Amino acid sequence: MGGMDEGSLTWDEPRFWLMERDFGTGEEAFAAAENFVGSRLSADPIEPLTVIGDYVIPPSGGPASRDFQTLHFDFGLPLDPRTSQDVAHYTALYIAHGDLNVTAVTRLVPLVALLAQRDWPERAELIARFVAYGRTHGARDDRMGYSEGSFARVIDAAVTSPPLLVSVKTDREFLCGTEFADLGAEDVFFQRHGLDIAAVEIDIVLQPGQLLVFDNLAFAHGRRGRRRPGELHQRFYGHLRLSPADQQGVRERLLSAFCGSSTDPSTPASSVSIP
Ligand SMILES: [Fe+2]
Repeated sequence: MGGMDEGSLTWDEPRFWLMERDFGTGEEAFAAAENFVGSRLSADPIEPLTVIGDYVIPPSGGPASRDFQTLHFDFGLPLDPRTSQDVAHYTALYIAHGDLNVTAVTRLVPLVALLAQRDWPERAELIARFVAYGRTHGARDDRMGYSEGSFARVIDAAVTSPPLLVSVKTDREFLCGTEFADLGAEDVFFQRHGLDIAAVEIDIVLQPGQLLVFDNLAFAHGRRGRRRPGELHQRFYGHLRLSPADQQGVRERLLSAFCGSSTDPSTPASSVSIP
């Protein structure tokens, strides 16, 4: 394994790690991911970090995936935390060795770089908007608080203009993640809000045997292209039943991305390719 060249990179640069070694099995790959994520623990103020989910997408035996996946955060971001819930910090992706002809592109959008493209309200105003949006558009039960997985909805909540997206509270049939018919429609939404996704998006075509680990709180992520049944193995590292107080700490990271500053500048950021 090569060294990790974090050199002159600074905190606001992307935090993802592509390990190009030819891992023979998912267990080998995820063992490497766990070692790697574990090595980041000293920089994480909230412990313990543990496996909170393990999925194959799309499930084996089912249909292929849609031809794109909207930008999102795994397990959602706590925008109005009121009850304990699971929060994902790192996502690991692996494609089985020998699974040929992979064409889907993983899209990583670094929040700090994207959100710096325009001005935002101050921190307290952003929190008030997140809470208000949750009441009209988010959680079906306000007592549970509001956690949001869709990046577009986080932006829909933060802006001053009236919301553009359908309320999942008033439209009970709405399926989360289907806000946009295609990539073009998603792009139009972000452009309307002064955000140029293409200018900062990092595209990765993960190949069989490779492992990708990224910070689920530093990037919105999605997909371009289809995945075949059983193609992508995902493991999520984070916090089980995180308290509302600790979720506020997670929300502070998001708020600091809007405000153009980091709450954990000691964490070196990197885009490291480990052969
Ligand atoms: Fe995801």
